[in-house]
Amino acid sequence: MDADMLPDGLVIADETGTVVCFNTAAARITGTRPEDALGKHIADALPLEDLAGRRWWVCTDPYGGLGTRTRQPERNLLLGGREILVTAAYERVDGPRSALARLVVSLRSTDARRRIERGHSDLIATVAHELRSPLTSVKGFTATLLAKWERFTDEQKRLMLETVDADADRVTRLITELLDISRIDAGRLQLNRQIVDMHDAVLRHVRALECTGPAPFVVVVDGELPRMWLDSDKLDQILGNLLENAVRHGAGTVTIEMRAVSIGAAPGEDGTEITVSDEGPGIPEELLDRVFTRFWRGNRRGGTGLGLYIVKGLVQAHAGSIGVERAAGGGARFRFTLPAAMPDVLR
Ligand SMILES: Nc1ncnc2c1ncn2[C@@H]1O[C@H](COP(=O)(O)OP(=O)(O)OP(=O)(O)O)[C@@H](O)[C@H]1O
Ligand SMILES: [Mg+2]
Repeated sequence: MDADMLPDGLVIADETGTVVCFNTAAARITGTRPEDALGKHIADALPLEDLAGRRWWVCTDPYGGLGTRTRQPERNLLLGGREILVTAAYERVDGPRSALARLVVSLRSTDARRRIERGHSDLIATVAHELRSPLTSVKGFTATLLAKWERFTDEQKRLMLETVDADADRVTRLITELLDISRIDAGRLQLNRQIVDMHDAVLRHVRALECTGPAPFVVVVDGELPRMWLDSDKLDQILGNLLENAVRHGAGTVTIEMRAVSIGAAPGEDGTEITVSDEGPGIPEELLDRVFTRFWRGNRRGGTGLGLYIVKGLVQAHAGSIGVERAAGGGARFRFTLPAAMPDVLR
C-alpha cells in the first residue's frame, strides 16, 4: 500500500536509524518536508522531546535499549513546540533480543482530540449553568419557606411551591434531553418502529395544543400519504418540538402541510414530507444554519436551545432530512422528510 494514503503520519527508519520512509501525513503533522527528513538519522529528522523537555530518542534508545522491547505506547510529545501523539513499533527479524531491523513510528496530530476536549468542557459548562438556575430557585424558595413558614399566607406558600414544582420539571426535562443527546451523539439511538399514521399523529398534537392556547392551526394533507414504518414516540418528539417552537417563537396561524414524496432513485422508496410554517418574525437568513446546533437560542423566549438539535438527530436516525426556510408569510418554515421504510413483508 502507498504510505501516502495513510491518514496517520508514518516514519520508518532502517537498522542504522536512517529514515527511509516519511509519508505525506508525517510531513503535514511535523511541518518537515519528506526530502529534508529522508536519509537523515531519526533523532535529527524527528527531534521529539517529552513534556519535561527530555530528548525522547535518548530516553527510549530503541537501537541500544532493552532487547525485549517491541513497542512504545502512545505518548504525547513535543516537536518544535507542537504536540504530537507518537507510537513506535520495533521490528526485530531474528526474534526477541536480536538487533533492531526497523523502527516504525506513527504520528498523529492532537488537534482533533483537543477540539473534542474543548467541546466537552464547553458542554459541561453550559449544562452546569442550565442546571444551576432552576436549582438556585428551588433552594431559595424551600429555604425561605422552612425558615419563615408561619409568616406566609397559604396563597403565598402555594405560589412558591408552584415555582419549585415548575423548576423541578425543568431540571427533569433538561436531564431527559441531555440523555437523548448523548444517545444521538454516540449513535446509540434505538428505534422501535411500528406502522404510524402521520396524519393522526399531527392531529393529536394539534388538538392537545389547541386546548392550552389560542394559536390557530391549519392542517393540510395533499393527496394520499404512504404507510409509514417509524418510531412513533420519536415522531411525537419531533412534532411536539416543532409545533411548540412555532407557537412559542412564531406567531399567527401555524400551518402544517403533509404530502407524499418519492425519495431516492428506486421506485417505491416513498416517504412523507411535513412542513410547519408560522407567521412570526422567522429566523434571520444568516442564522438559518445555526438553529439546529445544540444550546443555540435566538431570543429571550428561548428555552435551553436543545429542541431542534434533538429533532434533527431523531429525523436523521430515521434516515430523513430536515431544513428551515422563510415561509411565504414571512415566518419560519421547517420542512422534514421521513422515508416510509416499510419492511419487505408489508410492501
Ligand atoms: N418557529 C420559529 N420562529 C422563530 N424562531 C424560531 C422558531 N423555531 C425556533 N426558533 C429559534 O431557534 C432557537 C432554537 O430552537 P430550539 O427548539 O432548539 O430551542 P428552544 O426552543 O429555545 O429551547 P428548547 O426547545 O430546548 O426548550 C430558538 O431559541 C428560536 O430563537
Ligand atoms: Mg424548542
